[in-house]
Amino acid sequence: MTRTPLIAGNWKMNLDHQQAIALIQKIAWTLSDADFDYEAVEVVVTPPFTDLRSAQTLIDAEGFKIVLGAQDLSDNDSGAFTGDISGEFLSRLNCQYVLVGHSERRTIHGEDDEKVRLKIQAAIRHNLIPILCVGETLEQRNSGQMDLSVKQTLAALEGVNLENLVVAYEPVWAIGTGEVASAEQAEEVISMIRKGLAESKGAEFADKTRILYGGSVKANNVASFMKMPNIDGVLVGGASLDSEEFANIARYREHIGV
Ligand code: 13P
Repeated sequence: MTRTPLIAGNWKMNLDHQQAIALIQKIAWTLSDADFDYEAVEVVVTPPFTDLRSAQTLIDAEGFKIVLGAQDLSDNDSGAFTGDISGEFLSRLNCQYVLVGHSERRTIHGEDDEKVRLKIQAAIRHNLIPILCVGETLEQRNSGQMDLSVKQTLAALEGVNLENLVVAYEPVWAIGTGEVASAEQAEEVISMIRKGLAESKGAEFADKTRILYGGSVKANNVASFMKMPNIDGVLVGGASLDSEEFANIARYREHIGV
């Protein structure tokens, strides 16, 4: 089974809709100047909600091959949920992916495994591919909880039937800190996640599910992750806000000569 590598930029709460247009244009132009092969490597950006309509219009009008995703969704579809965003709205804006359970949602917004599971189900209802984010804190790592990501993954998928899933392993201690997990550390956890998926959802599902690494990824370290057999892509925070840097991350194959 070949898994198409996925390079995703999580913009977090950065850039308004005009800045979003400028950044997407620059990424697309830089990649097209470099004859980038979007069939070989999928490129996704997840701007803030308020940018999505402008981003969609631009991508449509220009025929860009960059794919849109959102950073979160409600576990409900409609109704009295002030401030929430339905997966239905995201689908209508041609979002194909949605981040679910990012550590910033878990810690700042108190989302637990149950909430994450309900959001995964909402994503499925609206044909959005969930990018399920998991990862341990430094404290949890130091107390030997190396299988926490496996537990979070399985808890989020308990009783859930789904065809398409992306998992992002983002050790909390490596997010926005400049502290990068080594490629070997990331591969170790990611291969445990794949094994857990095989045991709970079957070998075929585990084999086709893409599992990404996230946490202080830059153009100068992306290749080390992408060389690992179980790492199928990266989820990039800070470095995804710089068009040159993000385009260089997407072009990682040139760094490793494939
Ligand atoms: P940084 O790349 O800024 O460390 O952020 C990682 C992240 O949280 C992506 O979702």
